[in-house]
Order: sequence, then structure tokens, then C-alpha cells
Amino acid sequence: MNYRHSYHAGNFADVMKHALQWACLAYLQEKDKPFWLLDTHAGIGMYDLLGEQASKTGEWQSGIARLLAAPEAPQELQGYLQAVRHLNADDALRWYPGSPYLAALQLRAQDQLTLCELHPEDARALAQNVSRDFPSRGQVKVELGRNGYAALKALTPPPIKRGMVLIDPPFEQRDEFSQVVQALGAGTKRWATGSYVIWYPIKDPLIIGDFHQQVADLPHVSKAYAVDLLVRGPQDATRMNGCGMLFVNPPYGVVQQVATIMNFITPLLAQDRGAEWQERWLKSA
Ligand SMILES: C[S@@+](CC[C@H](N)C(=O)[O-])C[C@H]1O[C@@H](n2cnc3c(N)ncnc32)[C@H](O)[C@@H]1O
Repeated sequence: MNYRHSYHAGNFADVMKHALQWACLAYLQEKDKPFWLLDTHAGIGMYDLLGEQASKTGEWQSGIARLLAAPEAPQELQGYLQAVRHLNADDALRWYPGSPYLAALQLRAQDQLTLCELHPEDARALAQNVSRDFPSRGQVKVELGRNGYAALKALTPPPIKRGMVLIDPPFEQRDEFSQVVQALGAGTKRWATGSYVIWYPIKDPLIIGDFHQQVADLPHVSKAYAVDLLVRGPQDATRMNGCGMLFVNPPYGVVQQVATIMNFITPLLAQDRGAEWQERWLKSA
């Protein structure tokens, strides 16, 4: 396991992922009923953009920095942007929240969050960050060193029936797309009504087409929808030219917000004139 998210925190991929994650949980908050979120690949939860690792790549400068500098972001992005702004005094950007931190901010007293992180050092950092930022919040559970795919199988169906699984792997293993499909198959078999949100990198668009088809073909998946973002034209299929998010049972209100969010962030995150986004229903009941 070589991947460390601290090199990439706040990049264009995080912006898309976290903006849509925020929208999903905001939608789940609309009803009083409790929700559960399982974050299978949690990372460390908080990133120092001026630290050694983030500074080496500077990826956040063409990600969250551009978004924060843009005037008049739509209402749909305000919750996420305010969460980042609150961490950074005087408009100087240094701290960037990961998916666990953003999710914990959106929990109400009745909600539960389970975080899995396999990398031993990152798991320890995650546990420390959670106990510092969300002390005495028994509702945030850190599964130290736990494999997120195994946890998805073991923890479903959850006692809280409404909720979402966020799957955000590093994609450093060749068979990561197959592992995701397998985990989704197992998860949806046990908990067919849960929402599942999967982040993926886009290099070769043909691989993404196959992945979409395999998810749509799973027997317990009745609704699947995907949003793809290219930050540059995909001429070189060995580079990460963009990323996407696949939603199984997408929260209804989120699909309605996608165009507003993506129309705003795509030109800001563009790295050449080939930047574009698209949405697609892969399966609808
Ligand atoms: C892309 S990062 C997660 C970023 C995080 N979701 C966020 O948005 O802030 C992927 C993380 O998954 C961890 N990881 C890799 N394989 C895993 C597995 N099978 N189960 C749990 N965590 C894993 C890596 O150590 C890494 O920290």
C-alpha cells in the first residue's frame, strides 16, 4: 500500500467528490429519521496543504483553491465551502477536510458514522484526528486497520435502515474496479435499499464503460446513475484525465442538484479546453 491521500488532498477529484458527498448527506438530513454512513476508505480526515506531502504536488492549487477564489458559488455548494472556510482563518488556505471530517460535521444526534482505514499509519492519524475534532462523539466509530470491503459485507444490513456507503479506493491495484463490483454485489444483496456512492478515476474511458455495465448488471442493483468529469481531453489514456462518481440508489434530491454543481465546478477545475462533464442513468427501475 503506497497510496497516501495527503499528496492529493483538495485536488479536483476531492472537490467533485466532497461537493457531491455533502449534497447526499444534506439530502439525508431532510428527514428526522436517523441515517448511517459507512466510509470504507476514509483516509486521515484532515490534511495540511502546506505540509511536505501536499506541497510536493501542489494539486490543491488547481482544486479547492480555485473554488474558494471563485465568486458567487451556488447555494448547493455553500455548505461544503463554508466547512472548508471555517477551518481556515483570514482567507489563508492551509487545512482541507477529508470525507470523514465533512461527514461528521453533517451528523445529527441520531446519526451514525463508521470509518475504515487500512493503512496502519493513516488509521492511527484518523483516530487521533477524530478524537481531537469530534471528542465524545460516540456516533463516529473508527475501525482501525479494517478492510473497507470486508466491513461493507460484515456491517450490512445496518440496524439503522437509511443510509449510504461511500467507497473511495486508491485504485493502485489492477483489479480495484473488480473489487468494487464484488463489494457492491455483496452489499446490495444484503442491503438493497442503501445508497452506494463510488468514486473512480478516469484514464481510459473504455474501462469506465465496462465498470458501469458490470454495476448495472448486478442482480440487486435496480437504480444506478453516474456523473463523469473530465478536466482535460482524454488524449492520453495513461493519465488521470478526470474522475467520476457512480451512485446506486442515488438520493433523489442529489440528482436534481448535479447539473448546478457540475456546471459551476467544471470550468473552474478545467486544465484544458477538453474539460466537460456528463451524467448518465445506467439502470433505472
Ligand atoms: C482516496 S483515499 C481516501 C480519501 C478519503 N475518502 C477522503 O475523501 O478524504 C483512499 C484510502 O483508502 C485506504 N485503503 C486502501 N485500501 C483499503 C481497504 N481495502 N480498506 C480500507 N482502506 C483502504 C488508503 O490507505 C487511503 O487512505
